[in-house]
Amino acid sequence: MSLNLEGKTAIVTGASSGLGRAAALALGRSGVSVVAAGLDPEGLDETSAMIRGGGGEATAVEVDISKLDQVEAMAAEATAAFGGTDILVNNAGVYPNGPWHEISEKEWDFVFSVNVKGYFLCSKAIRPQMLERGGGSIINISSITFFVGADEFLHYVSSKGAVVGLTRALARECGPESIRVNSIAPGAFPTRAYFLPGRDIPKLDQSVMDSQAIKRKGEPADIGNAVLFFASELSSFVTGQTLLVDGGWYLH
Ligand SMILES: NC(=O)c1ccc[n+]([C@@H]2O[C@H](COP(=O)([O-])OP(=O)(O)OC[C@H]3O[C@@H](n4cnc5c(N)ncnc54)[C@H](O)[C@@H]3O)[C@@H](O)[C@H]2O)c1
Repeated sequence: MSLNLEGKTAIVTGASSGLGRAAALALGRSGVSVVAAGLDPEGLDETSAMIRGGGGEATAVEVDISKLDQVEAMAAEATAAFGGTDILVNNAGVYPNGPWHEISEKEWDFVFSVNVKGYFLCSKAIRPQMLERGGGSIINISSITFFVGADEFLHYVSSKGAVVGLTRALARECGPESIRVNSIAPGAFPTRAYFLPGRDIPKLDQSVMDSQAIKRKGEPADIGNAVLFFASELSSFVTGQTLLVDGGWYLH
């Protein structure tokens, strides 16, 4: 069996940069028409242009995934552009950091409104489109930090644990409707989320390399490849799972 994604359609949130862009490019290269969705119009246009430049189909849609009306508008734009959605990659995320006792209520709510509520709102908005197309695949981006814990990321780590829970519960309810729901937990990847201000990057690089079984740095394309697996029929009997793509950092 091959990927066989030709003619499918996908929405990727947070597609203007980093892992979301890598996922969008991987899908675009595999013949999927991609709605590149997110907050940063310039980056989204760039991602779409990269897909079109490679002979694929893509369109950019501005959306704040924590806002219901904007998410519903994004869903409508996906229908207008490509007739509906087969694959949803819930990737957009925010990652403020600091000591847990200094996190404000407002910042806690902000992190959960994007990293958890946003995934719920997007999944709910896209469900009718998937049902109309006879099923679909939802892929949620979690994080290794949920599995290993992480200093100074209490709200973020908690939200990424919630993504694992959301994935499992949603998989139960969506399975009978032929919608599969899986999650990817990335290890360390060189995106904005990695190069946070104030971080000692050489020290972090070293500790990541010491932790990983595979002694190379993660590349965003590694996440793109995992997205292709969950998007395609290669994973047709897999749902509710979280795949760590982390070079063997967390082995359980
Ligand atoms: N880079 C890593 O090492 C790593 C590790 C584990 C998990 N992750 C997760 O991967 C995902 C992608 O992050 P990244 O590393 O590519 O960083 P990134 O900052 O490049 O990507 C995050 C994207 O989300 C978008 N976004 C933020 N808030 C949004 C909102 N309200 N509505 C729509 N879009 C919004 C941003 O514009 C950006 O495009 C995130 O969920 C992150 O938590 C990253």
